[in-house]
Amino acid sequence: MITAVYPGSFDPITNGHLDIIKRSAKTFDKLIVAVLNNPNKTPMFDLEERVDLIRQSISDLNNVEIDCFSGLLIDYMQNKNVNVIIKGLRTISDFEYEFQMALMNRKLNKEIETLFMMTNSDYSYLSSSLVKEAFRFGGNIENLVPDIVIQKMKEKL
Ligand code: PNS
Repeated sequence: MITAVYPGSFDPITNGHLDIIKRSAKTFDKLIVAVLNNPNKTPMFDLEERVDLIRQSISDLNNVEIDCFSGLLIDYMQNKNVNVIIKGLRTISDFEYEFQMALMNRKLNKEIETLFMMTNSDYSYLSSSLVKEAFRFGGNIENLVPDIVIQKMKEKL
């Protein structure tokens, strides 16, 4: 049985994340979506809200678990006894950053493998930060994030 961890900030979850989650849930026996609790950042949604939005967006997937972590991802993975990290890749600039991160993680723990899943081309430009920026200035973000996210973002305004 192979379990993978899909880590991220998910502030908030987008349809690009959701696509990776659905495809990973088909590929692996179990997927853990691990939400980073980063005290150095001020997110739009706090940890609990981010987890809740993910939970509501994936209620139809029964082999996906949501969890939180802080500190090093590899320490979290070791505690969970999981050795596959799944990452979505959108652009060349993603690749450069992810390449460094994957090698650093391997340096820290050589038992843990990072696997990359190519984005669905519909979402290759999509990021949580761009969604938030477009929304703040009144842009239409329909079809870019789950409806529940749009609803919660409206409540925040
Ligand atoms: O959605 P994001 O913000 O691009 O996700 C980045 C994340 C959470 C995957 C990455 O920042 C991470 O793993 N942070 C935890 C600290 C860590 O392990 N860093 C890598 C080795 S120094």
